[in-house]
Amino acid sequence: MNITENQIDEIIELEYNIHIFKIISPEIASKINPGEFLNIRISELAIPFFRRPFSVCDVEDEFYYLMFSTMGTGTKLLATKKPGEFIDVLGPLGNGFNIEDDFDRAIIIGGGLGVAPFPYLTRQLKGKKEIISFIGGRTKNDVITYGLENISVATEDGSLGFKGNVIELLEKELDKTDKVKSKIFACGPLPMLEALKILAEQKNIECEMSTECTMACGFGICQGCPIQSTADEDKFLLVCKDGPVFNSKEIIL
Ligand SMILES: Cc1cc2nc3c(=O)[nH]c(=O)nc-3n(C[C@H](O)[C@H](O)[C@H](O)COP(=O)(O)OP(=O)(O)OC[C@H]3O[C@@H](n4cnc5c(N)ncnc54)[C@H](O)[C@@H]3O)c2cc1C
Ligand code: FES
Repeated sequence: MNITENQIDEIIELEYNIHIFKIISPEIASKINPGEFLNIRISELAIPFFRRPFSVCDVEDEFYYLMFSTMGTGTKLLATKKPGEFIDVLGPLGNGFNIEDDFDRAIIIGGGLGVAPFPYLTRQLKGKKEIISFIGGRTKNDVITYGLENISVATEDGSLGFKGNVIELLEKELDKTDKVKSKIFACGPLPMLEALKILAEQKNIECEMSTECTMACGFGICQGCPIQSTADEDKFLLVCKDGPVFNSKEIIL
């Protein structure tokens, strides 16, 4: 685990307030795995005081990419950065997705900005596994398909794709498909993950999910990011150190 100053090479602006930073760091690009994250100090000033965690969105040669939208103090400040400026980065941190197990089809499920880690996961799986991606949002403005493959879309208001939530869409598709050995990789809002956990267990499909919470240290010291473990109700895992990616059977949401 390292703190480094990384230079922004390029900024890509997508529709609907989505920013993608292309950042130079041969060190992080060569080490980081899909699902791992970086804890970023956004300002030299006291506000925001804590670093903010971001998934690595993609990696290409000596560059890595971050994807974010402006939510609050930190991301609004981050969005003011320009190519050539530096950001203070702690990481790589956390445990990423396990893509070494025995499966033939990767089912990627992303809700809203939860798609952020999946361009890199897609890049790593491409040519090795079949990939299908289910992307959801409240409206078409929340649907981000950047860097993804073989995409089906669900929107709650029906403005794009299937009308309903992305887990309802997944359930319909799973009922249609054959018995290819599949593994689910998911990231998104809590209600989406809760519904997915139930569905994956009903259908007996292995499912890893990247969970989110507010963090401080990002590496297991402050105990500020607990998540309940199924193994022992009194035991808490730490999202930053034991996650952010967990097997759905490991955690109580
Ligand atoms: C492991 C991990 C990976 C992440 N990856 C990404 C990423 O790739 N791209 C991205 O845009 N964001 C990502 N996030 C969330 C990101 O850290 C938050 O967007 C960020 O903390 C918001 O900071 P802020 O200072 O702009 O907002 P704040 O001023 O801190 O908060 C603004 C509002 O947003 C709410 N909020 C803050 N954090 C979250 C959160 N995690 N989930 C839901 N609501 C929140 C607050 O409660 C508040 O209402 C990730 C979080 C974690 C834990
Ligand atoms: S953020 Fe400090 S222990 Fe997880």
